[in-house]
Amino acid sequence: MTARILPPTDAGLLEAAAELSAGRPVAMPTETVYGLAAVATDEAAVARVFAVKQRPTFDPLIVHVAAMAGASAGDPVAALAAAGLVDAAALSPAERAEVAALAGALWPGPLTLVLPRGPAVPDLVSAGLPTVGVRVPRHPVAQALIARVGRPLAAPSANRFGRISPTSAADVLAELGGRIGVILDGGRCELGLESTVVAVGGGGPPRLLRPGATPREALLALLPGLVVGPADGAARAGEPAPAPGMLASHYAPRTPLRLLSGPIERVAAAELEAGGGRVAVLLQQGDAAAAAMRLTALLGQRPVVAALSAAGDRDEAARRLFAVLRELDGAGAAVILAEPCLDESGLGFAIADRLRRAAVAG
Ligand code: TXA
Ligand code: MG
Repeated sequence: MTARILPPTDAGLLEAAAELSAGRPVAMPTETVYGLAAVATDEAAVARVFAVKQRPTFDPLIVHVAAMAGASAGDPVAALAAAGLVDAAALSPAERAEVAALAGALWPGPLTLVLPRGPAVPDLVSAGLPTVGVRVPRHPVAQALIARVGRPLAAPSANRFGRISPTSAADVLAELGGRIGVILDGGRCELGLESTVVAVGGGGPPRLLRPGATPREALLALLPGLVVGPADGAARAGEPAPAPGMLASHYAPRTPLRLLSGPIERVAAAELEAGGGRVAVLLQQGDAAAAAMRLTALLGQRPVVAALSAAGDRDEAARRLFAVLRELDGAGAAVILAEPCLDESGLGFAIADRLRRAAVAG
């Protein structure tokens, strides 16, 4: 099987919806990264998603729902409870107000809320946890697909487990092309980083479980009591954890990635002296071509160099991060030397997090 890439036309949407209704996974675009979707209430279809991704069943999926309108938008918990997705009775009035504040300001968008699980969510979707992750994507193609299917869609990122999330239809094809039938093409992802995951409920303060495309500052402005888990508070592989996706090693290229602890010239030279082969370099910003020339003169080999954003623009750096990692991974280098993201304000928090996780595997 080789996946067909369908345009987001009426015919494409119809075919993708038919696949989903028949219980077959479909890759769909979202504003963050591409997801591998299945009807959330169809446990057999969800099982196929885990199989295609080779994802361990202790790692729960996010349920994607349609945008809410009218009274539902003002009371998202009631709307999610009516659909059987969330257990409203398990939330206190204060916690319901927290959900309303977050959802009201940030849905549709790159925010996943982990809430008490309702009866319509199969065990497999939430990995047996008493909670479920829910998000309203803002990508028009994702919204159209959910509306066409008429059911919520469970979708993890459309990559094999532990690898780099795809931000284009071509990336999905490279990751899963031989394992799925249909990829719905929605263009390159506007944000390029996964959603931020926040848990509400359980009696404690709301907790940020995974940094992502919604900056923590935006969350803190709404909920000053939000507890931000340490970005390096990663769980060990195989252990159940509050956010199983926070495994220390994740989002990893095949080529070992090392975070630079000193000037690039020194580290690259040491790498070559140690007998390393070709070097690839990820810069946070600046002129990649000029850096490549400088390093060529120094090392006697021309390294592959890419900068996340020439101008140092954070949005651009986030949008390009996974695509640049893929490009460098494909360069045939022995090692990727990556400049760390030192300014962790705004999207820098998530960029730094993803680079640390990409590095551990190396
Ligand atoms: O932007 C995104 O979030 C993308 C797009 C496709 O929506 N999806 C995504 O899914 O990144 P995935 O499966 O690669 O990551 C989902 C994260 C994981 O860290 C998972 O453990 C966490 O959300 N998660 C989901 N349900 C959870 C739950 N009930 N409790 C704790 N963490 C949960
Ligand atoms: Mg993922």
